[in-house]
Amino acid sequence: MEMMKLANGLEIPAVGSGTNSFAKTDGKYDGHTDEVVSAIKAGYRFFDTAESYGNEEAVGAGIIESGIGRENIFISTKMRTRNMGQDEASWKPEDAVAAIERSLEKLKTDYIDLYLIHMPWGKPEETRKIWEVFEEYYDRGVLKSIGVSNFTIPDLEDLLAHCRIRPMVDQVKIAPGSPNAELVAFMKANGIIPMAWGPLRFDLDKTHLKVIGEKYGKNWAQVVLRRNFQKGIVSIPKSHSFEHQKENLDIFDFELTEEETEIF
Ligand SMILES: NC(=O)c1ccc[n+]([C@@H]2O[C@H](COP(=O)([O-])OP(=O)(O)OC[C@H]3O[C@@H](n4cnc5c(N)ncnc54)[C@H](OP(=O)(O)O)[C@@H]3O)[C@@H](O)[C@H]2O)c1
Repeated sequence: MEMMKLANGLEIPAVGSGTNSFAKTDGKYDGHTDEVVSAIKAGYRFFDTAESYGNEEAVGAGIIESGIGRENIFISTKMRTRNMGQDEASWKPEDAVAAIERSLEKLKTDYIDLYLIHMPWGKPEETRKIWEVFEEYYDRGVLKSIGVSNFTIPDLEDLLAHCRIRPMVDQVKIAPGSPNAELVAFMKANGIIPMAWGPLRFDLDKTHLKVIGEKYGKNWAQVVLRRNFQKGIVSIPKSHSFEHQKENLDIFDFELTEEETEIF
């Protein structure tokens, strides 16, 4: 597995497994661990989950069940935020402490490799207070790296201007049709690793991607993921199929031309 380096030197697999619909039947959590165990068999060593997915327990259980060893897996999870169905009236930044403790317990781990603020919500002063909690847990070694998700350039600018420890990742939608190029360039200029959610979920004609893929014996999904890798973007594709899980990791034995990396 190819790795990328976060600003603090921590290595992160260049491709991880998304999990938002794992451990669910008809959208309802049922705790099954099949997809996580299958992904580990396919070669994944990085899982991206979130408190809001309601499946941290199954992700933790699947890792244990696989026998791979916690130390061989990179886990990212995310703090549910004020604008994500929380009780707004009672929500306080101090609740970040309880959120981190809940995720640790559900994942059955004593550390989290990457912990993210799931969404910005237009109250920078609250974000800054939450970030202080992230920084404290980072200092204690419980959070090995910290970052954000869905933050825009102004969101990042405010955090960068006020933080002690800079966010190491911004997980945002990056896919054909939504390259988020300006935001990605801003991240790069500020030592933040871009992480692509939804990299394979887009409603565009795939002919051009397929034609490029044919040249290398790869499919359209592998072209998208390879493009991200060559641009220094970590991707977290999600699949319920073992075949697709394997395909999405099989992107390290070919190289797109520079022109081909500009496909989106
Ligand atoms: N931070 C955020 O706000 C946020 C938002 C959304 C998602 N996320 C994270 O990002 C992860 C990925 O995003 P996503 O799950 O929305 O979308 P995605 O991974 O881009 O796409 C998933 C879809 O692509 C299909 N697929 C996967 N591999 C394929 C392949 N090789 N060939 C053909 N089809 C393939 C899957 O179907 P099959 O199951 O049939 O393969 C599934 O329908 C999520 O699981 C979650 O962890 C984060």
